Amino acid sequence: MLKQIRTPFTDLMKIDYPIIAAPMFLVSNTEIVTQSSEAGGIGTFPALNYRPIEKYDEALKAMRAKTKKPIGVNIIVNKSNTRQNDDLKYALDNGVDLFITSLGSPKKVIEEAHKNGAKVFCDVTNLEHALKVEDLGADGVIAVGAGAGGHAGPISPFVLIPWLKTRLQVPIIAAGGISHGSMITAALALGASGVSVGTRFIASKEADIDAAYKKAIVDSTPEDIVMTTRVSGTPAAVINTPYVQKLGTDLPWAMKVLKDNKMTKKYMVPLIHYLGMRSLEEAATKPSWKTVWTAGQSVGMIDDILSVKEIYAKLVNEYEESLRSLDKTKA
Ligand SMILES: Cc1cc2nc3c(=O)[nH]c(=O)nc-3n(C[C@H](O)[C@H](O)[C@H](O)COP(=O)(O)O)c2cc1C
Repeated sequence: MLKQIRTPFTDLMKIDYPIIAAPMFLVSNTEIVTQSSEAGGIGTFPALNYRPIEKYDEALKAMRAKTKKPIGVNIIVNKSNTRQNDDLKYALDNGVDLFITSLGSPKKVIEEAHKNGAKVFCDVTNLEHALKVEDLGADGVIAVGAGAGGHAGPISPFVLIPWLKTRLQVPIIAAGGISHGSMITAALALGASGVSVGTRFIASKEADIDAAYKKAIVDSTPEDIVMTTRVSGTPAAVINTPYVQKLGTDLPWAMKVLKDNKMTKKYMVPLIHYLGMRSLEEAATKPSWKTVWTAGQSVGMIDDILSVKEIYAKLVNEYEESLRSLDKTKA
């Protein structure tokens, strides 16, 4: 039996390990979420993985039937998500314990979640945004650093976490690049209260995605990860497949002009988002030559497809091993 890793985050959520299985569009599912929570961490998923809203309610009920342990939902809180009130309401009705907000203002989620005793952590990539959400009453922040899968931040986690720590009172969760237990040791040493792990769980037995996507995670090196604005208009990390190379990592000139123009911006931004999401969906779920696979630099330390339970055990074992090797460095 592995020892608990106790931090302010595990105390807050009443879990054994400060390891969040991060919300991943098209990848997180009932099995990954519930197995993560049962393993002693906490599983989370983007509400939008289940469309229409009835499927979301069904998924929440299925998760609740499989585990009594805490689970989390990610809600996109900007205008692009027309469903956000329902995303919140159904989650609260089903007793979700943790909310992760991304992109806009988390004010309403914080107010409503707190009435239910749920906690809210907000994705941030810099100090300014982190201070804003702390002011709004967030229970913590998820510091998304350079190298992360999805919408990675620009700042190295080595700087981002200690920088946020200088001013924030609330717990900080490190996200980006974590796929080995020694990285959890490092994140905690930098001042984080936990970690949020995404890419590692793409190569899990439970992920219900095209086998070629999992294989690409195992085969890729950090050098294969490139940032592209083609998916959503904001930089996102993807594997540099021949299709991505053909497409280019920047929006075509005309699209960029229309996106930056005051009059056309409001039409172009949702259109870019829609087209990008459609190609992601196609690439993740069916064999397709249009391979746009989201992943972060942590692919470098992922060599096998394991079950969620095995991934948790491996991370915790590696964490303990790295502590022992640190001990050896003492005089
Ligand atoms: C395939 C994929 C999809 C993602 N989708 C979302 C999402 O829908 N919402 C979100 O807040 N973050 C999303 N992320 C970011 C993760 O929640 C997390 O911050 C990130 O994966 C951590 O970095 P790592 O992949 O290096 O572990 C996604 C990441 C990946 C790899």
